[in-house]
Amino acid sequence: MTRISYALSIVSIVSLFVVYKAASNSSESLSPQGCRMSYMSPSYLLQPDFNSSWTHLANRYSLWLYREVGWEHNELRGVPVLFIPGNAGSSRQIRSIASSAARQYYPSPYTASPEFSSRALKPLDFYAVEYNEDLSAFHGPTLEAETAYASRAITHILSLYPANTSIIVMGHSMGGIVATALLPSPNISAVITMSTPHTLPPARFDRRIAVLYERSRAALLRANTPILSLCGGATDMMVPSEACILPPSEEGVYRRTVFSSALEGCWTGVGHQVMVWCHQVRWRVARAALELGAASSEPQRGNILDRWVRDDRALPYVPSASELLDLSDETLPAQQTLSLQKPLGERIYRLPAPTTAAKFVLFVSGGTIPPASPQNSLPLSASVYACRDAQHCTAFETGSLQLIPDTSTEKPFPAPHEGVDESEGVVRFEGVLPSIQGQDGSLWVAVDLSGGDGRGWVLGGFVDAEPVVREFTVHDILYREAAISVDPKALQTDVRLPHLLSNSLLVYRVTPEYSPSDTCSRAILPPLLQHASPSETLYHPLTEGRPIHLHSHTAAPFVPHDAGVERGINLTLYTSGECNVQALRIGIDWWGTLGRMGARYWAAVPGWAVGVVIWTTFIAWGIQESGAPMPTVSESLSIFTRKTLPWLVAASFAVSFLPLPVDHLLGNSGEAFFSPVAPFLMLVVAGLVQVSWWLLCALMWPVRLLGRITGSRRKDDTGIRKNTLFSMFLIFVLVFVVIPWQVAFLGCWIIHFFTCATHTPPPPTVFSATTPPASFSPNNTGYPPRSRSPPPVPPAQALADGQRHSAHLLLLMTWLLPLAAPVLAVWVRTLATAGLTTPFDGDHSFWTVAPYLVLVDFASWTRGPLLPRESVELVSIRWFWMPPAWVAFFWGAARTYEVFDWVWVVACLMVVIRVGPRYWGDASWSSASVRSR
Ligand SMILES: *[C@@H]1O[C@H](CO)[C@@H](O)[C@H](O)[C@H]1NC(C)=O
Ligand SMILES: *[C@@H]1O[C@H](CO)[C@@H](O)[C@H](O)[C@H]1NC(C)=O
Ligand SMILES: *[C@@H]1O[C@H](CO)[C@@H](O)[C@H](O)[C@H]1NC(C)=O
Ligand SMILES: *[C@@H]1O[C@H](CO)[C@@H](O)[C@H](O)[C@H]1NC(C)=O
Ligand SMILES: *[C@@H]1O[C@H](CO)[C@@H](O)[C@H](O)[C@H]1NC(C)=O
Ligand SMILES: *[C@@H]1O[C@H](CO)[C@@H](O)[C@H](O)[C@H]1NC(C)=O
Repeated sequence: MTRISYALSIVSIVSLFVVYKAASNSSESLSPQGCRMSYMSPSYLLQPDFNSSWTHLANRYSLWLYREVGWEHNELRGVPVLFIPGNAGSSRQIRSIASSAARQYYPSPYTASPEFSSRALKPLDFYAVEYNEDLSAFHGPTLEAETAYASRAITHILSLYPANTSIIVMGHSMGGIVATALLPSPNISAVITMSTPHTLPPARFDRRIAVLYERSRAALLRANTPILSLCGGATDMMVPSEACILPPSEEGVYRRTVFSSALEGCWTGVGHQVMVWCHQVRWRVARAALELGAASSEPQRGNILDRWVRDDRALPYVPSASELLDLSDETLPAQQTLSLQKPLGERIYRLPAPTTAAKFVLFVSGGTIPPASPQNSLPLSASVYACRDAQHCTAFETGSLQLIPDTSTEKPFPAPHEGVDESEGVVRFEGVLPSIQGQDGSLWVAVDLSGGDGRGWVLGGFVDAEPVVREFTVHDILYREAAISVDPKALQTDVRLPHLLSNSLLVYRVTPEYSPSDTCSRAILPPLLQHASPSETLYHPLTEGRPIHLHSHTAAPFVPHDAGVERGINLTLYTSGECNVQALRIGIDWWGTLGRMGARYWAAVPGWAVGVVIWTTFIAWGIQESGAPMPTVSESLSIFTRKTLPWLVAASFAVSFLPLPVDHLLGNSGEAFFSPVAPFLMLVVAGLVQVSWWLLCALMWPVRLLGRITGSRRKDDTGIRKNTLFSMFLIFVLVFVVIPWQVAFLGCWIIHFFTCATHTPPPPTVFSATTPPASFSPNNTGYPPRSRSPPPVPPAQALADGQRHSAHLLLLMTWLLPLAAPVLAVWVRTLATAGLTTPFDGDHSFWTVAPYLVLVDFASWTRGPLLPRESVELVSIRWFWMPPAWVAFFWGAARTYEVFDWVWVVACLMVVIRVGPRYWGDASWSSASVRSR
């Protein structure tokens, strides 16, 4: 054991702790959540008619109908909706949305609202499938069973309705994957998914999930059923939101990704589970589903979804009927900015346009600028006109409208546990000034306000069209912040930072600089920063001294994205000017960045750790095959750390600059800024492997002690081998019929753990890491030279070598466990809910576990070197360890399942070449030599 191993382990443990802290702290600072709780009076009716004559899965899963108690009748009379819960989710999660749909349709018990009944809209019948909280995220066959069940459930549900009825499908999390797997289907009218990882499976340990995703990709691309994906943003700690963004689709099919932070009237990050009950989201989803009943074609459905689940996409301004305005009779206050709190009555305001101005913006809080308004708007309404002179006013022709949040200085935004009310929101009008001008070259803008009742406010003025453009890159703000000066009085300032990286791993900190002013607390429109990226829009109120955190989900590791989107940040600052925001300072938020990386790269650890263990084994074998004694695991880890790790760290750093495909290495495609991540991860993983070995030793210690006390001695009879043959056959049958191979693998690990733990202590070692043998250093290759024919090994040495081989194998199998464990968890879960009868398809391949079974069994009774080089090997098969090691580093993060398969191939080779010949015949060589001692 060397000092460097200790140092590495401590660094690795401390880093893990720090990254964990940063990751668990990140959602609160990046995107706080403000959601109102929803309330309902639920009842769930089991659908017994959907029984095993429909599907054999009827014994495992069930179908339920939701009814709001005391509000709606039990008979079916509406449009069917099917809800599919996600990983470990429950059918009951439908209650919030279903209840909202019922209460919107029936404002009072059993009485339909005229708003719907007058348009012949039907209520909704919400069905939900109950998957017994199965862990679908980890297991392809489970996901497939769920899909098959949902597909039959849809056919059953539709058989209860008139012909040509179609169904709306909603999926939460992995349920959304099931929903898209049902496509294409003429029976599904629309799909709404919530917090669903569409492009990247959250757990990448199962090849069959990858295959399923591959299959769904075609449906996502082409199926003409409209799909809407709702994403929670950085608040969702379960599914990284970049995976929630729907991939680009073919022309003409409706695909929309809406982030809750941009969703009108929601404007908050929404957690993974919260997505189904957050009031601001659920009523819109329910309303969209209600309205979908009126649509008969795909484009209409798309329009309805866009109308009710709107993000911040600009609406075109539609002027009201009175096209012309005659201002000659009015007494007009002429001013450059219009700033009204609590407007009253009807009034027209006229604003002379300065010659430098290019755009006019108008903010109306709580009211309407047709056709945009908050859901429950005030009577206040505004129209905008461009005037040559008092007699010639025409409605502004081109303008865009957008609803932005109303952030007062009195409460935090979004208000925790409450969020935004349906009546809140500011309509923002932005219009390019027309080129019409009066004889004297003047241009006026007239704002016609009506319906003022003392609530809300209006703010309007001219702005410069030119954005503030700053060209600095992320490398320029590595150590110090960059300051961006803005005009403190401008109503709206666009800031473009076209060269700044925009990646989901990176968080920036923006601190506003105020000049002291006591009017800020009474600001009509307190400074509000809008951060728009191609996928999402976030609103950050600026408060003096408190930094805000910018992040995005457009470009992200492992997710294919369009070229060019990884650069550029667009910010817009809205303010009424009282706060005198003079500059924005922007820098990198390292704490947040660390958290984002931690949340995305934890899954790379098992794959890379297998790579490290393989490399360590490779080194140890090399030493032994050269004739030196086999090193212990600690020794070979220490050699790895000193000789190989520096090279691997350097290589991973260098390779990080290569423009590799997104599923290679850490998925950064050669982005220079992220090049230190791979070497850092390499160090952390190497330290973890070291720690894991100490943990294993610590676990083995009591077992060894117990073994000594009970005095159980291992025998090396051939009788044992007959037993093993029988047990192996038994395991074969069991794996084939009942248990998945992952259970057998765990069994192998346990057996091997006991084998290693109960080893008689090896004789004092000749070889030690701190004083390498004479043959070790002169050539400075790290390994002693290889000789073609190993010198005869003394029996005690053979015994020690065998035990150390076993120990290396134990470490390897330990790190392979995490790759197999998720399915184990699924199996245990399924066993508990559905019993043994459940088909657990696809995991009964005995061959997957066979080489480990043989190795473990052989290790338990052989007395010789476990895996000595055989004479048939022209080249030592230890070189076959190299491909799996490279696979582990290159694909271990994005396609972890590959690692297990590649290791399996080498394990088979070892068994066939090195163990096979001695397993039956020649094994007596070693036992005999031990016995003759
Ligand atoms: C964690 O978050 C809280 C609140 O957002 C913040 O006050 C605290 O400083 C953060 N912790 C660290 C270590 O940054
Ligand atoms: C399934 O339900 C239908 C209708 O209730 C019934 O006719 C049929 O016998 C049931 N099948 C089974 C296998 O229970
Ligand atoms: C169902 O739809 C098809 C095509 O839209 C139409 O031809 C058929 O008449 C419809 N059937 C019923 C019963 O409405
Ligand atoms: C659509 O539903 C009908 C029954 O309403 C069923 O016969 C048909 O197979 C379904 N089509 C698909 C593609 O599921
Ligand atoms: C920023 O805005 C400009 C102009 O509208 C646009 O071309 C560019 O794509 C935007 N960049 C980002 C990252 O949204
Ligand atoms: C160094 O390597 C050479 C061949 O590469 C070999 O002949 C020599 O014996 C080695 N020296 C030692 C000390 O192992």
